[in-house]
Amino acid sequence: MKPTRRSFLRGAAAAGVGAAAGGGAARASGDPAFAELQPWMQELGDPVDAAPYGMPSEFEAHVQRKTVYWLTADPISSINFTPLHELDGIITPNGLCFERHHAGAAHVDPALHRLMINGLVDRELVFTMEDLLRFPRENHVYFLECAANSGMEWRGAQLNGCQFTHGMIHNVMYTGIPLRLLLAEAGVQTAGKWLLAEGADASGMTRSIPMEKALDDCLVAFKMNGEALRVEQGYPLRLVVPGWEGNMWVKWLRRLEVGDQPWHHREETSKYTDLLADGSARRFTWEMDAKSVITNPSPQAPLTHGPGPTVLTGLAWSGRGTIPRVDVTLDGGKNWHKARMSGPSLTKSLHRFYFEFDWNGQPLLLQSRAHDSTGYVQPTKDQLRAVRGTNSIYHNNGIQTWHVSKTGEAENVEIS
Ligand code: MTE
Ligand code: CO
Repeated sequence: MKPTRRSFLRGAAAAGVGAAAGGGAARASGDPAFAELQPWMQELGDPVDAAPYGMPSEFEAHVQRKTVYWLTADPISSINFTPLHELDGIITPNGLCFERHHAGAAHVDPALHRLMINGLVDRELVFTMEDLLRFPRENHVYFLECAANSGMEWRGAQLNGCQFTHGMIHNVMYTGIPLRLLLAEAGVQTAGKWLLAEGADASGMTRSIPMEKALDDCLVAFKMNGEALRVEQGYPLRLVVPGWEGNMWVKWLRRLEVGDQPWHHREETSKYTDLLADGSARRFTWEMDAKSVITNPSPQAPLTHGPGPTVLTGLAWSGRGTIPRVDVTLDGGKNWHKARMSGPSLTKSLHRFYFEFDWNGQPLLLQSRAHDSTGYVQPTKDQLRAVRGTNSIYHNNGIQTWHVSKTGEAENVEIS
């Protein structure tokens, strides 16, 4: 199935595709796009300061976060989605990170922002942003996935595009202070087994986090991809809870309370729990299970080049470690192929995979299946439903299927 150089050339010639595929160099010389002078070759460009804070090319204006209007009652307590099909590599550009706000995005003045640590501590403390910059800081790339990502897909295929089925995820490099250093400064008492994180936005978002996790790899972050956090991502301060559901990554972080038991607040009782068939509910399901999705081709990114050399690509991740392997099928699971991983393999980060093949022009049923470093293999949706029933919304990590027609259009379908 893997294309050789020879089959690449043959495919390009057969399909009559242009310069890009390697076999079309002769054609390119007659191409007016190359042969004729373009305006940008004949006039001077913008001066250096035309955009003091640069923006993407105007030809990339279609690359946008998008919401689904009927999903939420209003745009304040709402969600939009990362355009995964437009991205490559593993890093999400800051301006494209999906947003999930329970009471809108708060514009917090850093000069007036404080972080309090209180409760079962030897010293209750209040930090200014300046105070925080005097603690040692670290850099880590982590994905953040909302527990509700793919939630609409639980009972069957719904939304037509990986942006909407899988786009409640982003992956950036955080600069932040290990939470354990701030807790040590306050002196956690022996009875202090839980931490309540509270946001400064009007939603008063709070979540209980076990002390073990707080002392392990959590960060209090103030930079993403090198620049200050974006307003939408919790400027000036957010909690980073690697590998765990996005809801716990409290934005606009203002208070950390140490306690001896969980608080059982709204976001860990009526929300972010999964009602099982027997009427009981799964709760404290913090870790995000291994998952993957083919981003191209996909419904928003059809195959437009016809048969021949084709690049399939996608993303895989696990809240428990790295992704050593992703399998890809073109025929709905009859034959599986090992995808090629490319880029850094970092714990609790997105991983990029590719599979290059010669498309014969026949319909495809595309799926990807992630294996994580613990040996866990991504399940089918049927396997998930067998264990969890049909009431769930959160933690849907089932295998996604795209049907690609002869004309290259892709559609969200379900076969297993
Ligand atoms: N923190 C506060 N203070 N307010 C919020 O509404 N939303 C949570 C979490 N932290 C939220 C919050 C949810 S449900 C998710 S999935 C993530 O933030 C989304 O982070 P993002 O907007 O950076 O994508
Ligand atoms: Co969420």
